[in-house]
Order: sequence, then C-alpha cells, then structure tokens
Amino acid sequence: MASEPFDKRSGWIWYDGAFVPWQDAQVHVLTHGLHYGSCVFEGERAYGGEIFKLDEHTARLKHSAELLDFEIPYGTDEINAACRELLVRQKLNDAYLRPVAWRGSDMMGVSAQHNQIHLAIAAWEWPSYFDPAQRLKGIRIGMAKYRRPDPMTAPSTSKAAGLYMICTISKHAAEREGFADALMLDWRGRVAECTGANVFFAKDGVIHTPEADAFLNGITRQTVIALAKRRGIEVMERAIMPEELPSFDECFITGTAAEVTPVAEIAGQHFQPGPVTKTLLEDYMSEVQPKKAAA
Ligand SMILES: Cc1ncc(COP(=O)(O)O)c(C=O)c1O
Repeated sequence: MASEPFDKRSGWIWYDGAFVPWQDAQVHVLTHGLHYGSCVFEGERAYGGEIFKLDEHTARLKHSAELLDFEIPYGTDEINAACRELLVRQKLNDAYLRPVAWRGSDMMGVSAQHNQIHLAIAAWEWPSYFDPAQRLKGIRIGMAKYRRPDPMTAPSTSKAAGLYMICTISKHAAEREGFADALMLDWRGRVAECTGANVFFAKDGVIHTPEADAFLNGITRQTVIALAKRRGIEVMERAIMPEELPSFDECFITGTAAEVTPVAEIAGQHFQPGPVTKTLLEDYMSEVQPKKAAA
C-alpha cells in the first residue's frame, strides 16, 4: 500500500521557531546536513495525545547534537512545547513525531563552524499496531552484513542520521530475502541491535540483552528493563555472541516505532514468543497510555 509521499502532505511543520505550511518546510540542496551527515533526529510516539517520554527524547536530541559538535539553539522547554503544540495543530492523538536538527548552508566543506543550526519538527498519524494475537506470531529477522561501529570510530550513542546509512542498506538486504528486519553485530562480533530497535532474549524466565556500549541505549529498552524488574524478572545486560542464539527460548525487539515486537526467527534460528515477551508487551502497552486519561 503506497502512502502519500511525505513532502506532499498537508498541515503544519514547526520550522526554526514558527509553524509553516507542511509543503513549505524545505531545505536547499546545498545543505551541510545533506552532504556531510551533520544531522541528528528523534522518533517519538504520542498515545492519546500525550507524547511518551518527551523529556527523555528531547534530552537525547540535544545530546546527539552535542556529540556531533553542535548545539541546538532552542531550550528543552521550547522544544517540548513545540512538540505538544504541533500535535494540537495537527489534530493528532496517536502519532509519530520527528524532530530533526541539522547544519545549514552557510559553509560548504568539511569545516562548518559557522553554519546556522536548524530544527524542524513534523508529526503524522501513526496508530499503534495492536492486535496481540497477530503480534505474538512474531517477525522474521535476517543477519546484517554491516556491523555497528566501534565507539572509537563514530559517535555511536548519538541518534545521528549518518549512523543510519548502514541500517538502510542492511534493512533493504533483509527485506529482499523476505525478512522484516536485520540483526546487526557490533565491531567485536557481539549481538548488538536491529536497524531501528534494540534486541532482547529470554531463557528460563531470565532476560538477556546486549550491554548498550556500542549502540543506542533505546528509551524503550530502558523502559522495558524497568518494567521487567518491576515484575521481578531478572535482567542480565551482558555480551551476547551470535553462537548463543540457539540457547534462547524467546526473543523480542524494542523501540519507539517497534514498541515490543516478538521475534519468531533470526536467520533460521526459531523462537517461541512466550510468557516473558507477552508480559512485557502488555506491560509496555499499558505504560505508554496517557497518564492524564489513566488518572
Ligand atoms: C538503531 C536504533 N536502535 C535502537 C532504537 C530504539 O530506541 P528508542 O527505544 O529510544 O526508540 C532505535 C529507534 O530509535 C534505533 O533507531
């Protein structure tokens, strides 16, 4: 099902401090962020009109920019208010929000010390996919050719656009083979994460997940770890080698977009979405519900 192209939609986009008509939110082709990857972004979800963990997302956006050596010229409160007002203007309840910050066009070269820093925020409808029975069938994942880079070679904890180059290549390759996503190892050959989500395993009621020392420590990942601990489920964050995959009973991935998605297979290795996955899927979906409505 082809959806409407993103540059042809209507509504409002918050752009450098003001709301502009959706199709007017343009950048010039000579934009540093486009040529040199000096761009960071966030992916947020609103449930029932409330943005889940907005403070954490805004903090990560600002931190990602700092790791790329630029400062977003808007305060946390301003960014949060813009995100919330955008939802109202767009008349959205269940939505995805995409703040993006980038270096502009003032200088075109590797050095871009004086380029203006831009910030834009877009939001569009994105209902949470939630048919538990359907979801529990699990998705199939392939193995990626590329690995997450050594933190000594890239700012690996930044949600930087450039780090997604190998994610898109890997996801396309996986989709050509009929998989929904690709599992990436890190530069040491340890299990790292998927192209847009973190990964968890369960064995004998204990959760095992890779230590987030070379990839994004997802906000959903942190939420799910807290939910598991609240349930009294032990969580081991540790180095996981791909050879260990056959020893696990359950597998699921987590992310703002993926929420908690059960995994049925990783490249021929099968898992049974079971009680740990089911519990955390349900706990996560109740955790994201707007607090105002729940009160
Ligand atoms: C590469 C990658 N890893 C992990 C995640 C999960 O992060 P979060 O739970 O903060 O959305 C994402 C999604 O943002 C991602 O793109």
